[in-house]
Amino acid sequence: MDLLVFSAFWFGAIVSGFLLQMGASSTTRKKQCKICGVRPTTCTGRENCTSGCNITSVCPHPKDVCVSVWRKNDDNVTIDTVCHNPDRELYGLKLEQSGKSGCEMREREGNGSQVFICSCSEDNCNDHIIFTPRTSPFIFKMSKLCKFCDLRESSCLGKESCTSECNITSICEKPNEVCVSIWRRKDTNITVETLCHNPANKLYGLKLGDYTNKKCEMSERKSMGSQFFICSCSQDECNDHMFFTQLSPPTPEYQLTWVILVSLVPLLVLTFLVITSFYWYRIYHQRHTGIKRKKTPLDCDVRAIILDDGGSDSSSTHANNLNHNTELLPIELDAQVGKGRFAEVYKAKLKQGATGAGEPYETVAVKIFTDEEYASWKNEKDIYSDADLRHENVLHFLTAEEHKLEKQYWLITAYHPQGNLQEYLTRHIISWNDLWVLGGSLARGVAHLHSDHTLCRRYKVPIVHRDIKSSNILVKGDLSCILCDFGLGLRLDNSLSVDELANSGQVGTARYMAPEVLESRINLENIESFKQTDVYSMALVLWEITSRCSAIGEVKDYEPPFGKLREHPCVESMKDSVLRERGRPEVPDSWINHPGVQLVCSTIDECWDHDPEARLTAQCVAERFNDMDLDKLSGRSNSEEKIPEEVSVTEPDEIEK
Ligand code: ADE
Repeated sequence: MDLLVFSAFWFGAIVSGFLLQMGASSTTRKKQCKICGVRPTTCTGRENCTSGCNITSVCPHPKDVCVSVWRKNDDNVTIDTVCHNPDRELYGLKLEQSGKSGCEMREREGNGSQVFICSCSEDNCNDHIIFTPRTSPFIFKMSKLCKFCDLRESSCLGKESCTSECNITSICEKPNEVCVSIWRRKDTNITVETLCHNPANKLYGLKLGDYTNKKCEMSERKSMGSQFFICSCSQDECNDHMFFTQLSPPTPEYQLTWVILVSLVPLLVLTFLVITSFYWYRIYHQRHTGIKRKKTPLDCDVRAIILDDGGSDSSSTHANNLNHNTELLPIELDAQVGKGRFAEVYKAKLKQGATGAGEPYETVAVKIFTDEEYASWKNEKDIYSDADLRHENVLHFLTAEEHKLEKQYWLITAYHPQGNLQEYLTRHIISWNDLWVLGGSLARGVAHLHSDHTLCRRYKVPIVHRDIKSSNILVKGDLSCILCDFGLGLRLDNSLSVDELANSGQVGTARYMAPEVLESRINLENIESFKQTDVYSMALVLWEITSRCSAIGEVKDYEPPFGKLREHPCVESMKDSVLRERGRPEVPDSWINHPGVQLVCSTIDECWDHDPEARLTAQCVAERFNDMDLDKLSGRSNSEEKIPEEVSVTEPDEIEK
């Protein structure tokens, strides 16, 4: 029994293995087909025929089936015998598998020729080609009857429906041709064209639409040089009756509006282009020449380029910002008006581009650096060369020059005869209104420097001055402040590395140095830290201005901040006062009797805070000044008292380190 079960098991296993093997081999076995490629044939397509190919080959791929393609192009008839994988397209067509013993032809859309394709999966099945009466290209495929008058004038208005008015009906030359009608209107001339056409080919560069349609449905085609409607259809004489389903042709009024619009568009585009180019040209011109314009508060770019206003001291506005020419400006130096750490400043005559107001020259200031101070000249020149720096409270820069022979480097700027703020405060006691003008304009200048956008809200590189002090601020005729001396300025652009920032180290004038600068503990990771040191120095200048304002009560002689120290205090003695003693210039109680001065003093207090982060920004200070209601804050003593110039002239202490 056991033996019987054992034998049955093994018999079953062997038989099923064999069957499996057979099945597998039948699905994976490669077929044999007729493969001769394209060859001329006598096969007319009227009846079944053989491929005429005597080469039988094993197909390269197990999935391949046998295929024959019959093609008629004019009088040229061919048969193409191939193996082909039905998963892929052949001549852009998907194969439809048919008969096993023979290859049943099916008509396919050919490009300008009649094409019949068959595919089958028995060995050599593509040798025997079957044209059934249903598929034969000759027996059942009749050429169509179409209206065929070519081009004729027509009374059809292209609305709703019309007839072709063609009385010639033709049998189309080829069975695959369809009936076509074309309606055209050019001006008042209307034509209808009727013809047969093979949809495989383009007509007037157009592919025919749905030519299997029974009706001639006219559809409009644009860009044909006239109004153009076309239809194609596949029933006898179907192109006789045209149906206009698209928009009706435009009325004369519509055409007129269209003509007006079309002719206006280029005119409008041209006007727009002229206006924008003119606008950009003006902006560009103003940027590069600094041409003086009237102050208009809403005109942001214009405000940024104003050299001066009613209080203008200098008319030097016409030179280029950067003199790239080797030719030097015709300048005649006059008296020396200042001496800084790195350079001397001269009043000078620019004998070119005078204002025309009877002056043969313009007065300018020339700052002259020696060879050794080249780096300082270069830094200041680079800072001034940023057109976005332009502001009414920043010294107007005209050009930089290299005087190679004399080994000198020049910066040519606007000239301000009132000199610097320290000199001005030494000579004058100011009113509350003057304090407001000087303080507000100083804060606006610093805020602009620090800002990362222009008045037009365009991006600009923020700049820090790093040496703000009253001797680096000029006073204009209208008593507004002008920042100058950018020899230590720093552009806070993204390209600055931490190393570069670190190297910028402890710079400035010890008297005006913020506590963190004195300690060399600036947070280099945050560019705001540099701005905060400028704000501290600005607070000291605001204190200097306030100390000379008649609104504080008794006004003493001018003294710089921490004035009791020697003329040019060193960093160490400043550390004692500012860090160890946490000292700040004195603000006596009498000062805050005046409501306006009180507001200024509390602002000053918030700007010289020991904690840099707690300080106000320059923008905030500028806004505080702008928001001050002068009438309400005037208090009792806003009378202006000027001390005659010759009375109290003292030498400015600055030009120090
Ligand atoms: N001192 C320094 N720069 C000056 C300028 N531009 N005008 C007048 N005095 C100055």
